[in-house]
Amino acid sequence: MKPHFQPDTRPVAVRPIILTGDRTTGPLHIGHYLGSLRNRVILQDTHDQFVLLADAQALTDNIKNPDKVADNVLEVTLDYLAAGIDPEKTTICLQSALPALPELTMLYLNLVTVSRLERNPTIKEEIRARGFERDIPAGFLCYPIAQAADITAFRATVVPVGEDQLPMIEQTNEIVRRVNRSADREVLPEAEALLSEFGRLPGIDGKAKMSKSLGNAISLSASASEIRKAVQMMYTDPDHLRVSDPGKIEGNVVFTYLSAFDPDQEALAELKAHYQRGGLGDMVLKERLNGILQDVIGPMRERRHAFARDMDSVRDIIRAGTSRARVVTETTLGEVRKAFRLFQL
Ligand code: TRP
Repeated sequence: MKPHFQPDTRPVAVRPIILTGDRTTGPLHIGHYLGSLRNRVILQDTHDQFVLLADAQALTDNIKNPDKVADNVLEVTLDYLAAGIDPEKTTICLQSALPALPELTMLYLNLVTVSRLERNPTIKEEIRARGFERDIPAGFLCYPIAQAADITAFRATVVPVGEDQLPMIEQTNEIVRRVNRSADREVLPEAEALLSEFGRLPGIDGKAKMSKSLGNAISLSASASEIRKAVQMMYTDPDHLRVSDPGKIEGNVVFTYLSAFDPDQEALAELKAHYQRGGLGDMVLKERLNGILQDVIGPMRERRHAFARDMDSVRDIIRAGTSRARVVTETTLGEVRKAFRLFQL
């Protein structure tokens, strides 16, 4: 995929700052790649980019599986490196090793009401999906505030995320405005979400959400045969029984994926028309998609293996990034402590 951003020749110090993060609960999949990783790989050339391994946030709904959260720190890091995130350009850091973040969270909690937390539509949906009912872990309900701490600690103005994260950015900016108003100056900048142009990629079964736990994902570390199998299983148009029948594009996952990944969109437009007229079989399309996905994931798999041969240096990448992030986040914490008029000893 060609970068559609102009190269940025400004000195690094004045580049816009990006922060994103991922919960370390499992390997990343092509939905993550399309929704955010691909943007990050492009933006690291023009922005000052930080990527957070959000292990502390992952604990808020995985307290019974702490090992899963810890084990996936290195896995997610390998996914980043495989996808083309370059540690020379992007700072990869570990959330739980940055004590300024929980400290900022504690301060911000004073600016937010419980009813505001309960109104966050993403949280509402997640509470429902996880079956918490009335037994909501307080840490979970408050994670949008912790995320506001993440974003503001780095003074990020750009946050490349999926649509489900928009309410988090909104809550972050409410906090930013309150802090600035109480200090009567701009202590923190407001942040803006950067959405992927494709929105959310459905699972291979056509369900709205791709997720490892639903078993409908294609992971970035999938083998060639796993990719092939996933494409073969992919949901198409259930009424398209004979090749000669006209087929439907809407809700047809193979076409959704082709729209997202096919480098030849003109040829794809013709295939769509042909499919709708009738005379184009699912197998031809699946063959095409398989080839394209093999081309996207194959090089990632190779890079992943190359990095995985030396896990000490992967750990060093996280250590170095976290040290750099510690300096940035502590500086912001100092400013925010002043804005809260905390007593200086
Ligand atoms: N909540 C995000 C997710 O589930 C992960 C995340 C944590 C994040 N901290 C962040 C995203 C800061 C953007 C900015 O995907």
